[in-house]
Amino acid sequence: MTLGEILAGVRLESPLSPSLFQTPVAGLDYDSRRVQPGFLFFAFPGSRADGREFAADALARGAVAVVSESPAPPGFAAPWIAVEHGLHALALAARNFYHRPDERVALTGITGTNGKTTTSYLIDSILRAAGRTTALIGTIEYHLAGRVLPAINTTPESLDLMRLLAELEAAGGTHATMEVSSHSLALGRVYGLNFHTAIFTNLTRDHLDFHHTMEDYFAAKQLLFSGAGAVPPAWAVLNRDDEWCRRVEIPRQSEPLWFGLGPKATVRARHVSSSLQGLRFEVQSRLGRVNVESPLVGKINVYNILAACSAGLSYGLAPETIAAGIAQCRAVPGRFERIDEGQPFGVVVDYAHTDDALRNTIAVARALTPKRVITLFGCGGDRDRAKRPLMGAAAAENSDYVVLTSDNPRSEDPLAIMNDALVGIRRTDVPLVVEPDRATAIARAIKEARPGDIVILAGKGHETYQVLKDRTIDFDDREVARRVLQGFGYHREPA
Ligand SMILES: Nc1ncnc2c1ncn2[C@@H]1O[C@H](COP(=O)(O)OP(=O)(O)OP(=O)(O)O)[C@@H](O)[C@H]1O
Ligand SMILES: [Mg+2]
Repeated sequence: MTLGEILAGVRLESPLSPSLFQTPVAGLDYDSRRVQPGFLFFAFPGSRADGREFAADALARGAVAVVSESPAPPGFAAPWIAVEHGLHALALAARNFYHRPDERVALTGITGTNGKTTTSYLIDSILRAAGRTTALIGTIEYHLAGRVLPAINTTPESLDLMRLLAELEAAGGTHATMEVSSHSLALGRVYGLNFHTAIFTNLTRDHLDFHHTMEDYFAAKQLLFSGAGAVPPAWAVLNRDDEWCRRVEIPRQSEPLWFGLGPKATVRARHVSSSLQGLRFEVQSRLGRVNVESPLVGKINVYNILAACSAGLSYGLAPETIAAGIAQCRAVPGRFERIDEGQPFGVVVDYAHTDDALRNTIAVARALTPKRVITLFGCGGDRDRAKRPLMGAAAAENSDYVVLTSDNPRSEDPLAIMNDALVGIRRTDVPLVVEPDRATAIARAIKEARPGDIVILAGKGHETYQVLKDRTIDFDDREVARRVLQGFGYHREPA
């Protein structure tokens, strides 16, 4: 492909010379260490270093030209292509370079404060139940036509995203479901990308450090619906019960689907029954009524399931296929994930690692049992210290029994971290065990449980490691819990 073809649609500060336009380009990159001869390099002003230094490195590795929104360093010995917006330029160039895979792969983008990962797993399960070959791109990991790849960011950089979509296409894939974080929208990582279906789950206070105000945060979310640099999505799926979702401006070209519990929702849940075994309810839409059953736990997941059903409807799938896909999504790793060895009490592993998330998770458990809620948690090291007493208070005020332990202590002393959390716990008289060794602590929490209780193992969710001062060790709350339960004589054959 020529440089001119790759930069089609990009706003240049001045036109390319005819010879530059015709220059062949072998690849694109924004990391100079990966540049090979014939590559086009994108230089961004970094937070720690000046991208222009990397331009010299890229040149030494054989880059044919540099694209940047910053001016060229004096005497730079290769073509410097000045653009209005560097990340938009990369997004459009990557899309051209990979032959616009989003014109053939149907994309679902999910934004919102909570529920993105869960909803994406549900939608992917529905599409697979319908026999499609799919990709799933989000926080936990990326799935590509049956292969599992580690996740780099919740939403990858545009170039990496286009490469994933092109690989999906090469593997015969037709549908991709991705979490679209508000950071990625604000930065322009999905600029120029055509979404078939855009979903907005909800909006609450979060990430305000990055976006400053709720209005900015909302404006970033709105971009998914207005179709920044691309045509607006064919379908707009929104939460009717969320005040911010109702403020979204839906373009004329988009077909809206409103999900929720009230009569104004077009995809609506009725007769919800919720237990530790999961959820069961009726979904009403213009295609009629269908009963859905899900092993996912907690009323919050009714919303995620409705959002996923709406996405299924946007792809013209039959309600029965959608219900089958919902039922087949057995668990979302580390999101209120049940550990069931046939014991007479509940054990769940949840990623909650803020005071707010802890409070929510405990509330979910509380709604599922009249018996006790036992909460195990710890706080991460080298991170926001002010959060620790708040987490302690959230756990103590809402639980019947608390086990305080280590999370990822990183370079800090685990005992010092626990002391910070204790400040919040000691304001209550909740029964408390303090045990820095996480495996021993998990055993203590489980040993305390009586029939009907729910044990929450909070903080690490899907993580399979623990970061200590001098090393990172293998550690998976789910495996440890399973081993402890088996040690107590419980055992269930995997289904
Ligand atoms: N629809 C929802 N409304 C409110 N809270 C939710 C909803 N769905 C999930 N949650 C809560 O948020 C937590 C995170 O869920 P999930 O991972 O699906 O969200 P996410 O939007 O991907 O979050 P993140 O931005 O951290 O990746 C869950 O453990 C649950 O406690
Ligand atoms: Mg997520």
